[in-house]
Amino acid sequence: MQMGLLQFGFVVSSILVLFGCTGMDQTGASRRDLLALSGPYSKKAFETLVYPMLKSQCSSCHTDQNPRFIPRDKNTAYGRVYALIDWFEIENSRLARRKQDKHCGTPCTDNADLLRLLEAWSEALDKDKLKTDDNRLITDVVHLTSLPTGNNFVEVTFDMSKFGAEFSGALLKVEVQDYSLNGVPTGAIRIRKPRLTSGASNLFIRLLRPRLNDHFDAANNLWESVQAPVAANNSNPPLLSPLVMLIERNGNGSDSLAFEVGELRVIDAVACRALPYFSANVIPYMQAANKCFSCHGNATHQAYARFPMSAYLAVSEQALCNATVQRVNLQEPDASAIFNPAFGHNGHPQNYNGGVIMSDTERETVRTWIDLEAAASGN
Ligand code: HEC
Ligand code: HEC
Repeated sequence: MQMGLLQFGFVVSSILVLFGCTGMDQTGASRRDLLALSGPYSKKAFETLVYPMLKSQCSSCHTDQNPRFIPRDKNTAYGRVYALIDWFEIENSRLARRKQDKHCGTPCTDNADLLRLLEAWSEALDKDKLKTDDNRLITDVVHLTSLPTGNNFVEVTFDMSKFGAEFSGALLKVEVQDYSLNGVPTGAIRIRKPRLTSGASNLFIRLLRPRLNDHFDAANNLWESVQAPVAANNSNPPLLSPLVMLIERNGNGSDSLAFEVGELRVIDAVACRALPYFSANVIPYMQAANKCFSCHGNATHQAYARFPMSAYLAVSEQALCNATVQRVNLQEPDASAIFNPAFGHNGHPQNYNGGVIMSDTERETVRTWIDLEAAASGN
């Protein structure tokens, strides 16, 4: 593709791939493959087979450049590489395909060697008894015909009731466009603003992997970090990730899009647990002059329709805190939508009325609350 995915480098560097057990209850409609798992055999297979090859052939570029799948720390590398592989279609994984497209010279002319090592790793996962049947949660496909460009996106919806009666009414929504730079089509689609409307149940969702034309085909799956509780009957479904993703189209103009969901299950309640700190520190900040409520407390502002902070506060401090918790990623705080004003992700304004909306100190305050929330929820 013509444009650089490198511009998203800073974002990917903040993505930590989850490792093994996360302390979350693993029952319900969940599956293994998107969560990096390791046992003694698979760890060894990675460290003695896969890692050395990628280290010697790919690390000159992919330690510091996107996708950063060979970080200096071998333990981190395991999860990063794992996330680039579709374990049910290893040969279709982007990592394997790029090994034969000549983009790194001689080492990238044939991928048979890498495929053998990935198969060995896969067998080691079997031996560690970490593999399950192919019970992937894959949504129905939506056919992408003429997509908007420029500043325009179209909302595409996926029905989650396919995964069980308890998900009746639950819809995954994303916004999609054909991505152009200076009016010139790049051949990629841009996907942003993933949201889950929950229907009648409180839901927990984790990991969204886009599938274009029946394959996982994103170079960097920026939504590996998605994880959020979503309250039932939520009329302002939270933004699940602040990050915008690019996927190369197949060129014939008739692509289909689907999502593989890492985990989806019903939870008892969506609750903010560190309310005292939130009430004492975060709410006063949100309400201060020229801060969040300037837009999120103004019913005529576009920001209000998405996250009406003042309406929640009018119900109770707990209600505002509950709504905020849904826009927070407890395991990867920096990948939380709540930090959009600090990082300018998704085009969120960083300044208002001549001042910054979220200074470093203010970000620390919000971060302290998130850490307390994570501790209280056992994360
Ligand atoms: C000389 C530098 C260099 C080396 C060495 C290199 N790559 Fe890359 N790679 C790049 C660059 C630059 C990009 C981003 C631009 C692009 O997609 O071509 C990239 C992109 C990728 C991507 C994803 C981007 C996409 O759009 O699909 C994968 C996967 C990848 N490389 C795999 C590998 C593997 C596997 C190796 C080792 C066998 C390797 N690369 C070695 C420079 C390198
Ligand atoms: C200058 C106006 C403005 C200010 C001030 C502002 N925002 Fe926003 N905010 C927006 C706009 C515009 C959007 C995007 C609306 C959309 O997606 O259509 C948004 C969206 C968001 C979202 C995503 C909500 C969702 O679920 O879709 C979060 C989270 C958010 N803002 C947090 C904050 C926080 C926290 C503050 C204060 C620190 C803040 N904003 C201050 C304008 C503002």
